[in-house]
Amino acid sequence: MPDILIATHNSHKAMELKFFLKDSNVEIKTFSDIGYNDEVVEDGKTFEENALIKARVAASLGYIGIADDSGLCVDYLKGEPGVYSARYAGEPCDDEKNNDKLLDLMKDVDDEKRTAKFVSVIACVTPDGKEFCCRGECLGVIMKSRRGNGGFGYDPLFLYRELNKTFAEMNAEEKNSVSHRARAMQKFASEFSRRFNCQSPHS
Ligand code: IMP
Repeated sequence: MPDILIATHNSHKAMELKFFLKDSNVEIKTFSDIGYNDEVVEDGKTFEENALIKARVAASLGYIGIADDSGLCVDYLKGEPGVYSARYAGEPCDDEKNNDKLLDLMKDVDDEKRTAKFVSVIACVTPDGKEFCCRGECLGVIMKSRRGNGGFGYDPLFLYRELNKTFAEMNAEEKNSVSHRARAMQKFASEFSRRFNCQSPHS
């Protein structure tokens, strides 16, 4: 079986995805590991389209390509920032500015209207062109100010109510047990072993 290439330069995402793939019996690399520096244009309209665009690039290099496309969908903002989460406050991508913009847009919104979800779609593409996607979602609410120092992106503003913690207040194990990416990866693992008849990448 070819090695797995995770189509990302985002070190936080790579770390989370590698966590789920750590028990697999195949080598896991990222774009950074192989020195692939070209920018992949993510011009899809959905998480699925963008995840497939990235995974196809990795597959074209001879690997089993895996990509996560993810983002935050806020109900009050009719699903925004969605697929535009990384560059919500413009180019270049800046987590602090994105969080400031979200706080500003939500500053007068009542508690019960602050619901949101994180979405992750994991796409898998093989060098011979087989493709599938798995989606995971995590429900929460948008805070009125940042809380916590961990994680990345919108983590300090996303409160996971069941633990009364923002994603930025969780340690890696906590986040990896409830996050959108964790849920997508669990589905991915069983689909991967079913299709490729091999040891699950997440045991
Ligand atoms: P992508 O790299 O194009 O998929 O963009 C993902 C963007 O969504 C990130 O830059 C973050 O802004 C946001 N995002 C996705 N997953 C998370 C997460 O687990 N925590 C915080 N922000 C996230």
